[in-house]
Amino acid sequence: PTGDVLPAVIVGTGYGAAVTALRLGEAGVPTLMLEMGRLWDTPGEDGNVFCSMLRPDGRAMWLKNRTRAPLASLLWMDVINHDTERYPGVLDRVDHDGMSVYLGRGVGGGSLVNGAMAVVPKRSYFEEVLPSVDPDEMYGRYFPRATAALGVNHVDPEWFETCESYQYARLSREHAHRAGLTTTFVPSVYDFDYLRREEAGEVPRSALAGEVIYGNNHGKRSLDKTYLADALGTGNVTIRALHEVRAIRRDARGYALTVHRRDETGEVVERLEIATERLFLGAGSLGSTELLLRARDTGTLPELGPEIGQGWGPNGNVMVGRANHVWDSTGRTQSGMPALGIDAWDDPEHPVFAEIAPVPAGVELWLSLYLAITKNPERGHFSYDPATDTARLHWNAEQGKTSIQQAKALFDKINRANGTTYRTDLFGDTRAFENRFTYHPLGGLVLGAATDDWGRVRGYPGLYVTDGSLIPGSTGVNPFVTITALAERNVERILAEDWTTPVG
Ligand code: FDA
Repeated sequence: PTGDVLPAVIVGTGYGAAVTALRLGEAGVPTLMLEMGRLWDTPGEDGNVFCSMLRPDGRAMWLKNRTRAPLASLLWMDVINHDTERYPGVLDRVDHDGMSVYLGRGVGGGSLVNGAMAVVPKRSYFEEVLPSVDPDEMYGRYFPRATAALGVNHVDPEWFETCESYQYARLSREHAHRAGLTTTFVPSVYDFDYLRREEAGEVPRSALAGEVIYGNNHGKRSLDKTYLADALGTGNVTIRALHEVRAIRRDARGYALTVHRRDETGEVVERLEIATERLFLGAGSLGSTELLLRARDTGTLPELGPEIGQGWGPNGNVMVGRANHVWDSTGRTQSGMPALGIDAWDDPEHPVFAEIAPVPAGVELWLSLYLAITKNPERGHFSYDPATDTARLHWNAEQGKTSIQQAKALFDKINRANGTTYRTDLFGDTRAFENRFTYHPLGGLVLGAATDDWGRVRGYPGLYVTDGSLIPGSTGVNPFVTITALAERNVERILAEDWTTPVG
């Protein structure tokens, strides 16, 4: 009932939030999770929970009238995106000046829409990015704990060599090797055994049916099947979907939240107040940063410092396509879940880790696609805009240049060795390198700056950050394993130290 003060509330249900919920639940702390997106468990009229990339509908995107896929065009034609009904769909694209950020919306956050690549970062680079975190503890304890709980698995290398699903990856590997580059298998939270059975025709297709960024109906161990299921299993965790936290203020026993509830059409139908002793922000880099910036600048948490909103980066993301020779087929059936990467991270001048990405269009396109992660030291920051009541990201084209130079050095090498060229028809104009969007927003509430070394927000006891906003802009690999492991580390410490003294 209204007026009660809950022991713990978590904002969001992505990686950091899900880890925190499980560990609080196991410790016996009654915990409420508030998620602005839908609970994705009910089939639509077509019998599926999610729509496919080839036939998107309202379920694809968060409150938009048209899809906005990362590949904008093919042969310069606007054939990829479709008009849809406005609906609280699973993928959001948040546009800022110079940078668009893709995000998952729904119970499970980014795990519902991502490529499932579960990569532990290089230890030397992790130490560079988060110097205050003990690497022995992370690599000895928390990374193994995270990968086990996420259900990370590896592709069978023998099957990989002969299957149809990864012909595109084998071709890109051959081209990379010809240029003297190294490739590596990428672990995944997509069930590779399920994928093998998809190709064999034994089970309904998902990764082989063009399902990735608008959700997978089968095969993927998203958070709702791992951490969140286990959290609910403790009996101490409750999730409320379609509840967006809008404002946070201090009150006598902790924190009071203003929450907007939406109905299934996306309309806000209720405004409620929820009070809690402890508040964990797991709304992602954009979500958590916006909540604290708004609180600072509207005066509801006035002691928040200048570090709020700093240290943001797109993990150096650059997308690029190469045009293949006609005799080099990538195959019509491409697994939507990548399994291979080009690892040139140790190149002293042009460090790049490039995932060999699918183009699950169901037709031969003579296209090899990559999402390159580059090492770009530039950082952006956010400011609060009172006119729109939102956080605005400050990031410009100049800041993205290093990433393009690094990616170009690698792919020039591959093109030279194979007599191939770039595709310039994919990104709405004639550019070959697209770095105006990111899948990997990181930072904004950096560990050891906006928070202490375990995610406790400075100046506000009982207020914590648990998600990708803690990581200053870069991990060198796809980030969710790092976010998960860091959340495991932080919540263990917080549970051990903070529950002995009352908040406030
Ligand atoms: P995350 O973004 O997962 O969760 C935040 C949740 O909070 C969301 O559900 C959101 O709706 C909710 N929320 C936000 N504001 C709120 C508010 N005010 N009130 C209530 N709820 C709120 N990474 C990787 O390691 N391997 C990969 O293969 C990929 N591939 C990939 C593809 C695509 C298309 C995308 C978009 C992303 C990836 N990623 C990825 C990135 C990965 O998904 C991402 O880094 C993590 O999901 C971030 O985890 P967080 O815990 O930070 O938040």
